[in-house]
Amino acid sequence: PPALRDLMPSNVRIGSAVNGQLLTSDARYRGTLSSQFNAVTAENAMKWTILEPRPGVYDWSASDQFVDFARANGQAVYGHTLLWHSNIPVWITESWSPEQLRAVLRQHIITVVSRYRGKIWAWDVVNEVLAEDGSLRDSLWLRKLGPRYIADAFRWAHEADPDARLFINDYGTEGRTRKADGLLRLVKSLRAGGAPVHGVGFQSHIRLGSPPKDATGNLRRFAALGVSVAITELDVRVPLPITTQKLLDQALLYQHMLKACLAVSTCESITLWGFSDVSSWIGSHYPGYGAACVFNDEFEPKPAHGALVQELSAR
Ligand code: G3I
Repeated sequence: PPALRDLMPSNVRIGSAVNGQLLTSDARYRGTLSSQFNAVTAENAMKWTILEPRPGVYDWSASDQFVDFARANGQAVYGHTLLWHSNIPVWITESWSPEQLRAVLRQHIITVVSRYRGKIWAWDVVNEVLAEDGSLRDSLWLRKLGPRYIADAFRWAHEADPDARLFINDYGTEGRTRKADGLLRLVKSLRAGGAPVHGVGFQSHIRLGSPPKDATGNLRRFAALGVSVAITELDVRVPLPITTQKLLDQALLYQHMLKACLAVSTCESITLWGFSDVSSWIGSHYPGYGAACVFNDEFEPKPAHGALVQELSAR
């Protein structure tokens, strides 16, 4: 199939999340990943639980392997993620004092960002910090450190790698929702306070039949703040069993999100949350849904891949 990476405009990257297991074990997986995409995000390998299983003891094996693969294949690396309410190592607990928690968070961010300084194009500095109503999400970090933890995280990351683009990333914000309104307010206030927020990532985990409301207009209102935007985790889950019609409808949604990104001059990238149905997270998290990716289990392109090719070729 035509390579998506060869068809993209030069200022917009096309990425995929990378499954660490298949990266090691499956040559077909590696082949499609390297030929189709010019950017990559580790699906799990850079999460805190994986990187620091015990206090102060880092395991870089999976993340180094991922970064090395990307560099060998001319792919930009999108780092995911420095701070999240989920995937916090079990050895960090609510009983810690705010000072201890702040220190461990700072140390973590500086350690990880420094290790990959110069090798990472952009970082998801904070992931999913908002609740559905647009207020800050309740989390260990908010409870113990208060709302300033977000700006602090950006400052620490910026100190450790001044050249990395720093993103705030969330789901349910790709269309016009209350959550997206809250994100807009948050980005505005972070930047007004001088925090080095360079971009906003829109995960875009979409369900067939429920397209985001005015994705293009929504991306534009963020771009108008002076930040970059990116589609960071796109997939379109389909209620099983699949039919030809469902796959065609899915293709339209993929095409729609690509169009939205290309319509906004500061959209830096569009990243798929995995490219093959064989390794998608959807099966284990959404019973009754699947087939969310642009390649099938056999790494054959689906209509969604064709729709992306068509959209890019028409330009
Ligand atoms: O690798 C272990 C395996 O050794 C173990 O036997 C098995 C038993 O549960 O777990 C495996 O780890 C799983 C890991 O995925 C790798 O497959 C974890 O349980 C599972 O929780 C983890 O799920 C990931 C999830 O984030 C939670 O971290 C998904 O793969 C990943 O796609 C998903 O990605 C998130 C983004 O980071 C943030 N945005 C939403 C997105 C989708 O949920």
